[in-house]
Amino acid sequence: GLLSLSAVYADYFRMGAAIEPEQTEGRTAELLKQQVNWIVAENAMKPDAIEPAEGSFTWERADRIVAFAKANGMGLRFHTLVWHSQTPEWFFRDEAGQAMADETDAKKRETNKKLLLQRLDTYISTVVGRYKHDISSWDVVNEVIEPGDPEGMRASNWYKITGTGFIETAFRAARKAGGPDIKLYINDYGTDNPVKRDRLYDLVKVMLEKGVPIDGVGHQTHINLEYPSTQSIIESMQKFHDLGLDNQITELDMSLYVYKDLSDVGADVPGDILQQQAERYGELFDALRTRKELLSGVMFWGISDDHTWLSTFPVVRTEAPLLFDKQLQAKPAFQAVTGF
Ligand code: G3I
Repeated sequence: GLLSLSAVYADYFRMGAAIEPEQTEGRTAELLKQQVNWIVAENAMKPDAIEPAEGSFTWERADRIVAFAKANGMGLRFHTLVWHSQTPEWFFRDEAGQAMADETDAKKRETNKKLLLQRLDTYISTVVGRYKHDISSWDVVNEVIEPGDPEGMRASNWYKITGTGFIETAFRAARKAGGPDIKLYINDYGTDNPVKRDRLYDLVKVMLEKGVPIDGVGHQTHINLEYPSTQSIIESMQKFHDLGLDNQITELDMSLYVYKDLSDVGADVPGDILQQQAERYGELFDALRTRKELLSGVMFWGISDDHTWLSTFPVVRTEAPLLFDKQLQAKPAFQAVTGF
């Protein structure tokens, strides 16, 4: 029979996959049960899914994912309490319906900031309160670093209205609601890039010095056939490990195309490309196993190539970034990751 990722990696770290609620039934569900011991919601636990209008919570899709994981003895990550994307507009409007970010009056800006941080605190207490016994790792903030923006902080509504206050409030609220047992992560992409990594490091260090409860760094790790190097991925985790933090690889996949290449390999992915992908996956996991003390889990952003965000990003085309193909069969990459 087929090996199981989570069984093969039992002595190393958790192995997981991002899913939609629909995937908790049918053939994909069977594959997940066989292969992974960790689950995250691809979209169902984002703010626009959970509280589309202020005060009206829609838990059904998120609950289905929690129920599936619990029924099958799998752990869960939460993605994500705070993000600049997939967040409903109501958070960022004042009582008169004006966009808070556009406010110029200093006194009104102070009032707006207070109101937004109050909303954030309420949101986080509600969500963490509901799932704290079921979910152990939490993305508290996602993608807040942007080296090209002023101060290296993404110029989101959150940042424009509260500065870095939202980050502090979010972690403190999550700890307050969830207690000491849940683990709190700051999650981002491109954390292998030295400029971005160092900016993230500086932010985390300042936050920790202020007593903000950050337990670890989530590295999305959307990589491709060439970039970034395995070494740079390890080096980044090492840096945060030295700060006393945990690391998790939170959204792993490997595009067949390098940055800015908009070509299409065609419906049938050539064998040599699948082989190249397998070698690179193998090299990455060799390094992760060797340095297993650096991380507590690897989450793939999907389980099989029939369902991946990359098939429409940056253009609609054939993609095959995961370990299982569109027919849910193990690919050469699966053999490379498990055959050691
Ligand atoms: O639910 C609506 C549906 O009602 C509508 O008919 C359909 C038409 O477009 O859209 C559906 O929403 C889509 C949603 O996925 C659910 O399928 C959105 O358009 C689409 O934008 C959204 O994409 C998600 C994306 O985040 C949004 O930013 C991807 O599935 C999801 O994989 C992706 O995940 C992100 C992580 O959260 C953060 N890191 C990067 C990662 C990849 O972009």
